[in-house]
Amino acid sequence: MHTPDPAPGPAHPLRVAVVGTGNIARYHVEALQALSGDAVVVAAADVNPDALAVFTDRYGIPERFTDLDRMLGEVRPDLVHLCTPPGLHHGQALACLRAGVNALVEKPPALSLAELEDMAAAEGPQGPYVATLFQHRFGSGARRVRALVESGGLGRPLLAVCHTLWFRDQAYFDVPWRGRWDTEGGGPTMGHGIHQMDLLLALLGDWTEVSATARRQARVMETEDLSLAHVAFANGAVASVVNSVLSPREESYIRLDFERATVELRHLYGYGDSDWTLTPAPGFEEAAAAAWAAGESGVASGHHAQIAQVLAALRAKEPPPVTTADALRTLRLVAGLYASAAQRRTVTPAELRRGSRYYDRMHGGGTPWQSR
Ligand SMILES: NC(=O)c1ccc[n+]([C@@H]2O[C@H](COP(=O)([O-])OP(=O)(O)OC[C@H]3O[C@@H](n4cnc5c(N)ncnc54)[C@H](O)[C@@H]3O)[C@@H](O)[C@H]2O)c1
Repeated sequence: MHTPDPAPGPAHPLRVAVVGTGNIARYHVEALQALSGDAVVVAAADVNPDALAVFTDRYGIPERFTDLDRMLGEVRPDLVHLCTPPGLHHGQALACLRAGVNALVEKPPALSLAELEDMAAAEGPQGPYVATLFQHRFGSGARRVRALVESGGLGRPLLAVCHTLWFRDQAYFDVPWRGRWDTEGGGPTMGHGIHQMDLLLALLGDWTEVSATARRQARVMETEDLSLAHVAFANGAVASVVNSVLSPREESYIRLDFERATVELRHLYGYGDSDWTLTPAPGFEEAAAAAWAAGESGVASGHHAQIAQVLAALRAKEPPPVTTADALRTLRLVAGLYASAAQRRTVTPAELRRGSRYYDRMHGGGTPWQSR
């Protein structure tokens, strides 16, 4: 008979396993090892035994498995980090939940709204939970701007710009799961710009409509290689969103024009406080600077910042961030963008429910656009 583990407390770090030991997994294990008072990495799993052996040796992880269900049964971790390709997230998260284990899933959390709602439905009211890794919400700069939106300290947000202008050559898409609807769920909108779109939604709240175009302009792949969208928000702000993997001068850019100041973030894959700037409107120099200076500081965006909060929430027996409700809002914007581009019309979140073809599959089951 299984004897329940003692409730995690200061003397009992959470027992964590990492599944998928490819590119992104090292950010997870290095963050977990830096948070060693709160978590201990007890196992790793991968279907590739060579990658698994290199990874577990490098990080001194005591147990290794090539089968997730066996690992869940034998190790019974408190938390599993799913660092596998996107098409596996739904099935693997459900396996964790069925075993009573919390899951932290890399972005994108699922291939469709149907899959993510399925995962949300399998959570328990007191856990186990599924959280999604969207690390850009967790830097102090983002938290500072969110507080200013909520307090009205810079006036109303009026206009936003959200650009993910990255460069990925053709070889990048030779990895079999990339750039395909049935394994990645989309192109740079779903796979790359989703980070900045999630940050935009974390700052501005609920979106109300999206109007978009998407194209396959240069890469040989199944999905789009760029998309452009106009997004309206419930608070009255409007945003221009561009997602590209064709941009040799790479940049991740967010800009919010409030009544009393412009706030900008320029970075690539992560940011610190110094990547944010504030430009006050004439007449608001002192007030805007004071509101800005009063905010949080000192935390860079990244896996460490989010994982620290995930562990703290689980230890407090609360739903860890980013919750399935928050991740659904972001995934619904991605689905809305694709639905709008494919149908050449404006789309609202309300229509992206069960029964919509864009609820079950991001491309709606068709071939939404041709190569140029
Ligand atoms: N948050 C970020 O900034 C960020 C950055 C890069 C990638 N990602 C996401 O991380 C995830 C993984 O991306 P990656 O670049 O590390 O991929 P990868 O291909 O480098 O690694 C995936 C690993 O999963 C393993 N794997 C495949 N099938 C498996 C299975 N059934 N069970 C266990 N392991 C299995 C593979 O052998 C491989 O080692 C993707 O969802 C990707 O979008 C997030």
